Amino acid sequence: MTYHHYGEATGKVPVAILMIDENQTILLAEGDGLSAFAQFAGVSAPEAVLGQQVADVFSSIPPLVAGLLDSLDGKTVDTELRRGEQIWELRCHPVQWEGKRFKGAVCLARNVTIEREQVFVRNAVVEITMALRKAESLLDVLNVLFRELGAWLPINRGALLLREDQGGRLVNDFFYGRWKEMSKNASSPDLFAWMMVMGRQLLSTGQPYYNISHMVKDDSAGTVMGVPLIAQNEPIGVLWLGGETPLRKEERRLVEALGDLVANAVSRVMQHEQTERRLRRLAALHAIDRAITSSMDLRVTLRVFLEQATRQLGVDAAAVLLYDEKMHLLRCVLARGFKHYRCESSTVGLSEGLSGRVVRSRQLLVVPDLAQSTIPLLRTNMVTEEKFVAYYGTPLIARGKLIGVFELFHRQALKVDSEWLNFLQSLSIQAAIAIDNAQLFDDLQRSHAELEEAYNATLEGWVRALDLRDRETEGHTQRVTRRTLRLARAMELPADQLVHIQRGALLHDIGKIGIPDTILRKPGPLSEAEWALMHKHPQYAYDMLSPIEFLRPALDIPLYHHEHWDGNGYPFGMRGEEIPLTARIFAIVDVWDALSHDRPYRKAWPAERVNAYIFAQAGKHFDPRLVEIWAQVFDIPLPAKSRS
Ligand code: C2E
Ligand code: SIN
Ligand code: SIN
Ligand code: FE
Ligand code: FE
Repeated sequence: MTYHHYGEATGKVPVAILMIDENQTILLAEGDGLSAFAQFAGVSAPEAVLGQQVADVFSSIPPLVAGLLDSLDGKTVDTELRRGEQIWELRCHPVQWEGKRFKGAVCLARNVTIEREQVFVRNAVVEITMALRKAESLLDVLNVLFRELGAWLPINRGALLLREDQGGRLVNDFFYGRWKEMSKNASSPDLFAWMMVMGRQLLSTGQPYYNISHMVKDDSAGTVMGVPLIAQNEPIGVLWLGGETPLRKEERRLVEALGDLVANAVSRVMQHEQTERRLRRLAALHAIDRAITSSMDLRVTLRVFLEQATRQLGVDAAAVLLYDEKMHLLRCVLARGFKHYRCESSTVGLSEGLSGRVVRSRQLLVVPDLAQSTIPLLRTNMVTEEKFVAYYGTPLIARGKLIGVFELFHRQALKVDSEWLNFLQSLSIQAAIAIDNAQLFDDLQRSHAELEEAYNATLEGWVRALDLRDRETEGHTQRVTRRTLRLARAMELPADQLVHIQRGALLHDIGKIGIPDTILRKPGPLSEAEWALMHKHPQYAYDMLSPIEFLRPALDIPLYHHEHWDGNGYPFGMRGEEIPLTARIFAIVDVWDALSHDRPYRKAWPAERVNAYIFAQAGKHFDPRLVEIWAQVFDIPLPAKSRS
């Protein structure tokens, strides 16, 4: 029998054999496991048991005595013996030698501790993995995890600490059981501070923590165990578990094995959640766009805007202030989420206050804690009555002109990342356009270019995040987008298609979000199974993007950029002009750039080799007519053969 083991080498399994005669005298005692029994019985040397009465020497091991005596009565006995962390399997049966009138009993004992441990850990890991596979959010992961763990481990408390994107600080995010109660109580932060400090240590050593007499104020948990969570070599957080009784050895093994399991589940759902968040934000931009287009009433538009903005940015309150050039002040037009502040009709001067600063600097102003603001507040009730903590103020600018200020307030400290800031920027461009339009009262003048800038700011933010993950060379996406547009213009494609081509190119590999890092960053060639998954990235892109109405005309490139002219591409194996023109154009530019730069799986090729390859693929991978146009537009020298 073979078994997979976690850590410790098994070596051979200790066994012991004991035999008694009719008079219950020990006749035979053998085996490398015997010393353990002598020790349990308090006998100095294993041989010392020979000739003794079994019930005397082994009185402290009742299952052994019972096993031998019952076998003497003709029974076969299978039983188990537990001592400390050791588990022994006992198998006893009667012995009878015909003709010799001998009657006795024999027991074979096998130390099965490690075997049991492994079976236990393996079963638990299999079940917990299956359960976690269905989890779709962080909260799901936690709920499933603790529900499953209850069946395997004597624990009743838990905490998941995750590392923040930047800086590697640990943050408290999820609690379970009594620690959840404690986390709501502001007066008992000791335990959590300790978890964070100790958690950092676990992440740096990669080792688990285990203590059976853990004492921290207000918490009666005796046993506390922590494991670092590491997904694909990236430390992502720490899992803490606690209970009232010590963990057995196999249970501690299980907790160690959980580190990997939970890390992978967490990193999977976080990626999933990020994608969903991006899609929701994009949908929000579109909803605002529709409101701008369909309503000439600024207040209706701004109401939609503020609702989407506060929800998608996750802030408590927001206000839009308009710049009054003549009076040289800001006038609040619409606000959301305030308890006392009466926006309508209130005005703020430009020389003072936070919004005045935003106007004068024409830049985003961030005040992490209003109570500590170095800029004196005009509206002090924002702190005293509204209890706001964080402030973000951004200028609204359209056609180069200052239109107003967009302010965000939150009643707690606000954690933001670059994508959040990116989205805020998109929103302020939109708000500026909406207001500008209303002020002009001329829908035809609405600047399409600026609206598109709002979308593209968001799209580019995603794509940067994706390129980072793919370890694409800096700017791959930007370069192929620019060059594809250049080819499309040279071919005089209709101007209204260009924006779709641009978005399609920006998003061409967004489907790689669905491909695990282990494949994406694999330094060598892909296996068949890995290729099977990689071949799905165009379809993933389509599935993700097609629900977004305004991206639908842009889907040709993401879906068809790996089709080949000769029909040998994927996902559909389309051939020739079945493949949409824009995807055929894009394929050349993408491969051109991919081969010209380092990839995790190979070094960059020199330009001559790249060009020769593309010419050679004309009529195979690429549309031959488009290869000619590509060479013309980008001044690529023709290969020696065809020059003549
Ligand atoms: P990618 O790295 O962006 O490459 C895009 C396309 O450029 C490839 O599509 C292929 O048509 C062309 N290309 C890139 N590198 C080479 C190369 O070394 N030789 C040749 N002849 N063509 C090349 P393809 O083949 O469908 O691959 C799609 C994606 O699959 C790649 O995107 C990359 O993310 C991944 N991939 C492809 N091959 C490997 C590999 O050997 N190892 C790993 N880890 N990933 C690979
Ligand atoms: C502002 O001036 O816009 C905000 C807060 C204040 O100064 O009271
Ligand atoms: C660009 O980088 O987009 C212009 C030059 C080129 O495409 O080769
Ligand atoms: Fe691709
Ligand atoms: Fe690409």
